[in-house]
Amino acid sequence: MKFSGLDAAATAMMILDSSRIIRYANPSAENFFNTSTKNLLDKVIDSVFISPNIINEIISLASENDCTFKSLDQTTNILSLKLDENEVLDFSTMASPTNILGKPGFLLEFNTVNRQLQKIQRDEQMLNQAKGNHELIRNLAHEIKNPLGGLRGAAQLLASDNLNRDTKKFTDVIISEADRLHKLLDRLLIPTKLPTIQQFNVHEAIRRVTDLTQAEFPKTIGYKENFDVSLPSVIADKEQIIQAMLNVVRNASQAIKDTGKITISTEVIRQVTLLKKLHPLAVKISVRDNGPGIPEEIKNKIFSPLISGRKNGSGLGLFLAQKLINQNHGAVLMQSKPGDTVFSIILPITFKEI
Ligand SMILES: Nc1ncnc2c1ncn2[C@@H]1O[C@H](COP(=O)(O)OP(=O)(O)OP(=O)(O)O)[C@@H](O)[C@H]1O
Ligand SMILES: [Mg+2]
Repeated sequence: MKFSGLDAAATAMMILDSSRIIRYANPSAENFFNTSTKNLLDKVIDSVFISPNIINEIISLASENDCTFKSLDQTTNILSLKLDENEVLDFSTMASPTNILGKPGFLLEFNTVNRQLQKIQRDEQMLNQAKGNHELIRNLAHEIKNPLGGLRGAAQLLASDNLNRDTKKFTDVIISEADRLHKLLDRLLIPTKLPTIQQFNVHEAIRRVTDLTQAEFPKTIGYKENFDVSLPSVIADKEQIIQAMLNVVRNASQAIKDTGKITISTEVIRQVTLLKKLHPLAVKISVRDNGPGIPEEIKNKIFSPLISGRKNGSGLGLFLAQKLINQNHGAVLMQSKPGDTVFSIILPITFKEI
C-alpha cells in the first residue's frame, strides 16, 4: 500500500486499521525503527512494542473523542519498541483517527524531537559533570600529594632506626600504602594536554590493545574480531585512543571468567551527535563481553571517578577512558545486562588532509 504524501514525509508514520493492525508504514518509519516494513505490516500494534499500554491508551482516546491525541508529559511519552535484543528506542507518539484506508483507522506519528533533545541534554549534563569532577579531583590530588610525601618520608626515617620487628611491620604498611596512594594520585593527575593528532588505522590500534591485554590475561581465550574492512582511518591522538580502549578491554577481561568471550567490532555510523555537535560520519568501536554485567548499584555512575565494583579496583579506568575520548571529540557509551555488556567508543571522522 502506498500513499505518496506520506511516503515522502520526514516524520515516521504508520496507519492502523480499526483492529489496530499495522496496514502501512512509511520509509521514515523504517529508518526510525531500524526495521523493514515487512517486519511491521499486518502485525497488531501490541505485538511490536514492549510497552504498548501508552500507545493503546492514546489510540483509544483518539477514537473515543474523534480527535488527535499526543502522549504529553515527560514520563508517559516514552514508549519503547523492541528492535532487537540490545537496542531500545525512546519516542513520543501522536494518534489521529483517519479514513485514509477507505474505512476507519488510525494514523500514528512518531516524534524524534524529544529523544534528540533528551540525548543532547544528557550529553551536556555529562560533560559539565565530568568537567567539574575532574577539576575537583585534580585539586584534591594536588593537596594530598605533598603531605603524603611527608608521611612516607617520616615512616622511612622511623624505619631506618633499629625498630623491633613488630614496629617495622607498621612502618612498612605506611610506606606501601603511601606508595599505592601515590600511584593513584599520579593517574588522577594525567596532564590535560591537547591531543597530538595523527591519522591512523583503528584496527591496528585495536590489535595493539588486544596484544597487551592478551599478555596481561593469558587465560582469555582470545578475541573475536568483527571488523568492517572498509573502515576509514581516523584523525585523533592515537596513544590516547589506545589508552582508552585498553581501559575498556581490560575491564572486559577482568569481568569474564576463563570461558568468557570478548568480541571487538568496528563500523561506520552516520549522523551522530557527540558532545553537542552533529557529525555526518563516525567510527564506532564496540567491545562486547558475556561476563556478569555491570553491577546494578553502580550502573548509573561508572564514568564517575572512584566508582568501582571490583575488589582492589580504583574506579578510574572508565572515568579516564571517557575523558580521553572526549578530548578527541568522541564519547564512550555503555549498555549492560547480565551476560551481555557492550562498551562503544565513538570517534568522529574528519576529512582533514595531513
Ligand atoms: N565489562 C564489564 N563487565 C562488568 N563490569 C564492568 C565492566 N566494565 C566495568 N565494569 C564495572 O565498572 C567498574 C568501574 O570500572 P573502571 O575501569 O572505571 O574501574 P576499575 O576497573 O574498578 O579500576 P581501574 O580501572 O581504575 O583499575 C568496575 O569496577 C566494574 O565493577
Ligand atoms: Mg578498570
